[in-house]
Amino acid sequence: MGGPILPSQCTVLILTDALSCLPASLLTFWNPPTSAQLTIESVPSNAAEGKDVLLLTHNLPQNINGFNWYKGQGVDGTRRIIGYVVATQLTTPGPAHSGRETIYPNASLLIQNVTLNDTGFYTLQVIKVDLVNEEATGQFRVYHGPDAPTIFPLDTSYRSGENLNLSCHAASNPPAEYSWLVNGTSLQINTQELLIRNITVDHSGSYMCYAQNSATGLNRTTVKIITVESIWFSEKSQEESFYPSLCPMGTSKSQILSRTSSICLYTLFPLFWFLMADPGRLPHP
Ligand SMILES: *[C@@H]1O[C@H](CO)[C@@H](O)[C@H](O)[C@H]1NC(C)=O
Ligand SMILES: *[C@@H]1O[C@H](CO)[C@@H](O)[C@H](O)[C@H]1NC(C)=O
Ligand SMILES: *[C@@H]1O[C@H](CO)[C@@H](O)[C@H](O)[C@H]1NC(C)=O
Ligand SMILES: *[C@@H]1O[C@H](CO)[C@@H](O)[C@H](O)[C@H]1NC(C)=O
Ligand SMILES: *[C@@H]1O[C@H](CO)[C@@H](O)[C@H](O)[C@H]1NC(C)=O
Ligand SMILES: *[C@@H]1O[C@H](CO)[C@@H](O)[C@H](O)[C@H]1NC(C)=O
Ligand SMILES: *[C@@H]1O[C@H](CO)[C@@H](O)[C@H](O)[C@H]1NC(C)=O
Repeated sequence: MGGPILPSQCTVLILTDALSCLPASLLTFWNPPTSAQLTIESVPSNAAEGKDVLLLTHNLPQNINGFNWYKGQGVDGTRRIIGYVVATQLTTPGPAHSGRETIYPNASLLIQNVTLNDTGFYTLQVIKVDLVNEEATGQFRVYHGPDAPTIFPLDTSYRSGENLNLSCHAASNPPAEYSWLVNGTSLQINTQELLIRNITVDHSGSYMCYAQNSATGLNRTTVKIITVESIWFSEKSQEESFYPSLCPMGTSKSQILSRTSSICLYTLFPLFWFLMADPGRLPHP
């Protein structure tokens, strides 16, 4: 016995209803002719806040009296946006009209300056001369941002040996994708956090967070200038070899002087009075 092996229920149905035996995945490829079906297409399919969306009507039937647009899925008089009467070419705004919607004689609907609240379904009702109405529903999403990012923590001064642990946050829908650039050069891609352990003075620089929303196609950046100061007295050996020469000359390093005031004042003042008592000890130019 050659022939295809069929599930038992199919052997009964095979002559009358072969399609019901096909797996669902195959059935999706089979569609009745749809060339004349009324459909709605949102252009673009999703929009950034403040942009315009055009709900395009395809296959508008012939011989129509007019049409109405509704917010939501289905026909609901309390959510009617606007209507159009073919004979008079008059538009009739409904309770859900925000003032940003324009209806065209080809039944397409333009919504300008969309807000997050415009996200959702829209239903077109076509009233035909034979009074057999047709309906079609379309939808779009409105996306936001990103807003200008904020980099945490807010501190800008670090000391060598510390960890630099930055995170970036920008309001965005859908959530933003983040990258980091240091001194204008890409450092980390697709991370919201930037962690550099045991930093040195060479890690000073401009740290830029780049936030991008792929749905809106928009991006925003924020730059933080980070200063890393070395710790001059962090080790005993450095302390002994450096402070006698550094402290008297530490003119602009106020932070170092304040951090080590007990050492520096102790060594600075005797040296000062020692020199003042006999200026002849100062080196001559
Ligand atoms: C309908 O009219 C609008 C405005 O003139 C136009 O942008 C659109 O392409 C037209 N076509 C369809 C299919 O809606
Ligand atoms: C778009 O809407 C916002 C408020 O939702 C308003 O501030 C802005 O002026 C509008 N822009 C245009 C071009 O109408
Ligand atoms: C959003 O739209 C609903 C109706 O769909 C309205 O009741 C509500 O006030 C709107 N909210 C804003 C913030 O515009
Ligand atoms: C970095 O900071 C975050 C909080 O912003 C914290 O959860 C995380 O443990 C920190 N990582 C290190 C290595 O310090
Ligand atoms: C930090 O880096 C310095 C050199 O820059 C090194 O001497 C020290 O051992 C490092 N410390 C740690 C904890 O890795
Ligand atoms: C950034 O540039 C400054 C100035 O050229 C430099 O001192 C610093 O080391 C740079 N930082 C990094 C992380 O490359
Ligand atoms: C970021 O947005 C600007 C427009 O605001 C654009 O010119 C630039 O190419 C975008 N950057 C990237 C990396 O996509």
